[in-house]
Amino acid sequence: MNEEQRKSTSINILAERDKKEKAKNRDFEHVYQPPSLREARKRGKAEVQYNNDFQINERYRNMGRGRTFMIKTYGCQMNAHDTEVMAGILSALGYEPTSDVNAADVILINTCAIRENAENKVFSEIGNLKHLKRERPEVLLGVCGCMSQEESVVNKILKSFQNVDMIFGTHNIHRLPEILEEAYLSKAMVVEVWSKEGDVIENLPKVREGNIKAWVNIMYGCDKFCTYCIVPFTRGKERSRKPEDIIQEVRELAREGYQEVTLLGQNVNSYGKDIKGLNYGLGDLLADISKIDIPRVRFTTSHPWDFTDRMIEVIAEGGNIVPHIHLPVQSGNNAVLKIMGRKYTRESYLDLVSRIKAQIPDVVLTTDIIVGYPNESEDQFRETLTLYDEVGFEHAYTYIYSQRDGTPAAKMKDNVPQDVKKDRLQRLNRKVAAYSGEAMKPYEGEVVSVLCEGTSKKDDEVLAGYTEKNKLVNFRAPRSAIGKIVDVRIDEAHQFSLNGTYLGEHSRAVVSQ
Ligand code: 5AD
Ligand code: SF4
Repeated sequence: MNEEQRKSTSINILAERDKKEKAKNRDFEHVYQPPSLREARKRGKAEVQYNNDFQINERYRNMGRGRTFMIKTYGCQMNAHDTEVMAGILSALGYEPTSDVNAADVILINTCAIRENAENKVFSEIGNLKHLKRERPEVLLGVCGCMSQEESVVNKILKSFQNVDMIFGTHNIHRLPEILEEAYLSKAMVVEVWSKEGDVIENLPKVREGNIKAWVNIMYGCDKFCTYCIVPFTRGKERSRKPEDIIQEVRELAREGYQEVTLLGQNVNSYGKDIKGLNYGLGDLLADISKIDIPRVRFTTSHPWDFTDRMIEVIAEGGNIVPHIHLPVQSGNNAVLKIMGRKYTRESYLDLVSRIKAQIPDVVLTTDIIVGYPNESEDQFRETLTLYDEVGFEHAYTYIYSQRDGTPAAKMKDNVPQDVKKDRLQRLNRKVAAYSGEAMKPYEGEVVSVLCEGTSKKDDEVLAGYTEKNKLVNFRAPRSAIGKIVDVRIDEAHQFSLNGTYLGEHSRAVVSQ
């Protein structure tokens, strides 16, 4: 029996086991929709539909009255933003937020599937919550996000985590009211995971975290299918939002006083390509957004394969698009890049970097790197180290390759022992730290503009924020500085942060760093 058959059989066995429950509850059939990675891999030709009429059914409006919710978020900014949407829906249903897990009536765990250790954290979190259901059986516990798109995860939860009441997928978030209702009525676990993406839904309610920086989705899904990556399976095919809807949202955020927006997508460079006849890409979108009066605009994440000259041109104009580009390289060796399915070479990546540097001389480049890919040799790994030197990244997120079921890389034999992978990660991380530290030194004595976000994590008396180039700055200042762009003279550079003296609100005469 192959892996695929084994999985579908185990789902059937579980479904069989739950037949009695189904008989008790007619609706169970309706809400038992488990995921399939095989289905999720398909890319249909059907054009994306846009839904601008989303409304919460009136009959759910009082569902949350007198009840509280808490959402625990793992993973990337996309998940953070999905949490804002779920918080928006729950608030619209009358639920109040709480940060006390013991007081929450609905607990949602928004999960990340990108690496095995991210998944393990979630399973231990669900395990830790078992006592809650014993003490307060009326609490509803839901698992959502990328992990719920994997059938192996759904099986494991069905089998071992009876304390979970609902599992719903990344394409089902807008159905949260219906899913909650089912969970209140049903004794069985409610599983609703669509493997195929649905429409782009525009007017979902949101409760944003804070009023200084905002996430703005510009597209959903990914069609790149890098061989190690689970995201194209968990997030569906690429679907761009319409330019006018994005621009409208950014304008609204500017009016509300937000200081920074980050345009989000798994690969934002593909923006617009899926909309027939649009002929409008990320470069055009950045150009339009640069005309909006909002101080800072970031975008993430860019794939080096389709980073266009138009994008470089717009960033080089130096308006509100910050000169920081996160450009995941993953490896510095051509053979590894090839089996990763990255569609560029070391040479073409370096060529892109030199074009970017030539046109944006003050650009900051950061990256993502995976070490210990199946069969990566010592020499191949060293090419990643030399590429790091050649580019001089100011920071990098580094990972040991993690096998993800259902991805092409999961079928590759791997001859690299785990301790070799760990050693490579440590060697790479030493380089990352050295470059990050070096990049900080020139700031000593300089004045930088900092978007002050609040108090520092370590000291409540100290305020903290980021420069345009994403450097963390700590300084003492009146609380009134929070939410503003302020000038700070840097006194001391550390490896990953800067300490400075507050000079006052940012004056435009100071060249920002
Ligand atoms: N193993 C390790 N790292 C991964 N990433 C994505 N998938 C995997 C995996 N299976 C990393 C890549 C990507 C970042 C978001 O996570 O570096 O750019
Ligand atoms: Fe994953 Fe590659 Fe898509 Fe990024 S571009 S989300 S690494 S498949």
